[in-house]
Amino acid sequence: MNSSQSNGTKKIVIAIDGFSSGGKSTFARLLAARLGYIFIDTGAMYRAVTLYGIEHGAIKDGMLDRDALVGMLDDIDISFRFNPDRQASDIYVNGECVETRIRGIDVSDMVSKVSSIPAVRERLVAQQQRMGRGKGIVMDGRDIGTVVFPDAELKLFMTADPKVRALRRFEELKLKGENVSLEQIERNIMERDLDDQNREVSPLRMAPDAIVLNNSNMTLEQQMEWIAPILEEKLRA
Ligand code: DC
Repeated sequence: MNSSQSNGTKKIVIAIDGFSSGGKSTFARLLAARLGYIFIDTGAMYRAVTLYGIEHGAIKDGMLDRDALVGMLDDIDISFRFNPDRQASDIYVNGECVETRIRGIDVSDMVSKVSSIPAVRERLVAQQQRMGRGKGIVMDGRDIGTVVFPDAELKLFMTADPKVRALRRFEELKLKGENVSLEQIERNIMERDLDDQNREVSPLRMAPDAIVLNNSNMTLEQQMEWIAPILEEKLRA
């Protein structure tokens, strides 16, 4: 029996990349739940490193001290634990749950800079590859199909209109009681799109073998219906 199979069911790696606030995590989480797969939000990992930098003095008043942050990497232990209330995993740094704190605008404003540091990427990519070794995983990010799992059996590239993405993030943050304007979010999303595409290390690129999903006008359930036949084929192959 192949190591990627258990109980006769084939397990695959599903890599999901795309722009920020494109609905990747929501889609990936539901897909993983339905398949009984592990879901890993790699953006949360870059956010966790950013939060640590803010809380430990490597990021102050919007300025990032790269060397200081790189010097802290050995002190940052990132893990995920399943939260039955959310039916999803929360992210922990050194045993402390930071799932809510990493979503704040202070982290969002600095995370692109942090994710452009090669030493940070190397560290997190290695951890992501370890997590996917056993397959049966859905991972979302920017470089999953290109760098983390170039051999993933299924690669998706998710896109949506920037205005739709900003509105989604706005609603999400409003629910959490964050006081930010739609304009602020739109600006943050545009800046991050540019940063993500133009950074030197692992820029956001679509893998040549990725399938595009533009979900601007699709509900989550419609996206699940769209993926069903593709999945069926991949799991049979
Ligand atoms: O998906 P997100 O918005 O939570 O991601 C936060 C930031 O992390 C985003 O600006 C891009 C970066 N990121 C990355 O560089 N590589 C990944 N695999 C995931 C996220």
